[in-house]
Amino acid sequence: MILVTGGAGFIGANFVLDWLRLSDEPVLNLDKLTYAGNLRTLASIEQSRHHVFVRGDICDAALVDSLLLEHKPRAVVHFAAESHVDRSIHGPADFVQTNVVGTFALLESARRYWSGLDDASRAAFRFLHISTDEVFGSLSPIDPQFSETTPYAPNSPYSATKAGSDHLVRAYHHTYGLPTLTTNCSNNYGPYQFPEKLIPLIIANAIAGKSLPVYGDGHNVRDWLYVGDHCAALRVVLSDGVPGDKYNVGGWNEKTNIEVVQTVCDLLDKARPKAGGGSYRQQIAFVKDRPGHDRRYAIDARKIERELGWKPAETFETGLGKTVQWYLDNEAWVTEVASGEYRKWVETNYAARA
Ligand code: NAD
Ligand code: DAU
Repeated sequence: MILVTGGAGFIGANFVLDWLRLSDEPVLNLDKLTYAGNLRTLASIEQSRHHVFVRGDICDAALVDSLLLEHKPRAVVHFAAESHVDRSIHGPADFVQTNVVGTFALLESARRYWSGLDDASRAAFRFLHISTDEVFGSLSPIDPQFSETTPYAPNSPYSATKAGSDHLVRAYHHTYGLPTLTTNCSNNYGPYQFPEKLIPLIIANAIAGKSLPVYGDGHNVRDWLYVGDHCAALRVVLSDGVPGDKYNVGGWNEKTNIEVVQTVCDLLDKARPKAGGGSYRQQIAFVKDRPGHDRRYAIDARKIERELGWKPAETFETGLGKTVQWYLDNEAWVTEVASGEYRKWVETNYAARA
């Protein structure tokens, strides 16, 4: 069994769904079900005997200790986090709590559990920490991409808390010998992403006839990776990564935000022509910039390719095409996860286990 934290969120849920499609090894899924966690995403595995879902907080050491002792996982795959940069600017406290304090609590529980294992199980145990390229700060147009040795320079409260968690993970390997692995990945896109992030927001707003907000001049650059490719990279790192090592994960797809938004509009123009004619591009609106907005991220993913043989399967064009189609086919998911009714249903039916 593996313990996945944050497995009801965007990447975590994609990881769990892919894992259970490819393997019989059970997943214990611990998720607090914040606004970003959606059980609807996991509906297809609701009855699976290989999936055990627990609503709970990674900061709750007693809960995590008891889950580890009861289920004896061979690995922890840690996605749980507050993940949205704009929210971190307006309210950083939850980010410090979950991303720093929560990762610390999880590391402590993992260390206690790991120390009590027999020698063979201790050697085989892994703690895989999923992190972001944002810890490296911002690049100029001519800077080389981020590598595993790029110094940390986080600029937003979100990236500062992720950087803090990366440092704790590093320290637990260096000091206690906990067999940790850390990945720093670029911007993900794909099915089940909460419609606050750029790509799903643009798709949802476009088909609702709303404006498509582009921050600043639209020339900030992100390096996009299809979520299924990220999940494949994580499986390879978990099985073959060297304990204590870090791996950068990216899609070699640097795009300006305005290019991304225009491409989404063009795909929508073909897949669902705008009522009354014209292009969705007409809905684009340049708006006030994000405070401290990092200009460019770009990942050098040569290490994971060279050492572990991972390469993305999707191009930006194929991945974005699939993604736009998924959102058109699953409008009900978007409406539901963003609705107050769904939140009320979660609170009534999924009391937190404490
Ligand atoms: P998300 O916001 O979609 O999901 C986060 C999940 O964590 C949610 O299900 C939420 O309920 C859960 N969670 C939050 N606080 C919790 C807590 N205290 N205890 C238990 N569960 C809690 O995030 P995502 O986009 O899927 O990102 C997952 C991880 O990958 C994060 O660590 C993020 O930093 C990292 N990452 C994301 C991207 C990206 O582009 N989205 C890129 C690189 C790295
Ligand atoms: O780089 C990896 C990171 O990518 C992850 O660590 C984060 O969890 C994830 O949220 C993402 O962060 P970004 O800030 O890059 O993603 P977001 O989708 O919020 O924004 C992408 C770009 O689009 C960014 O330059 C800001 C811009 N943007 C965003 C929104 C929501 C807009 O122009 N308009 C918008 O409405």
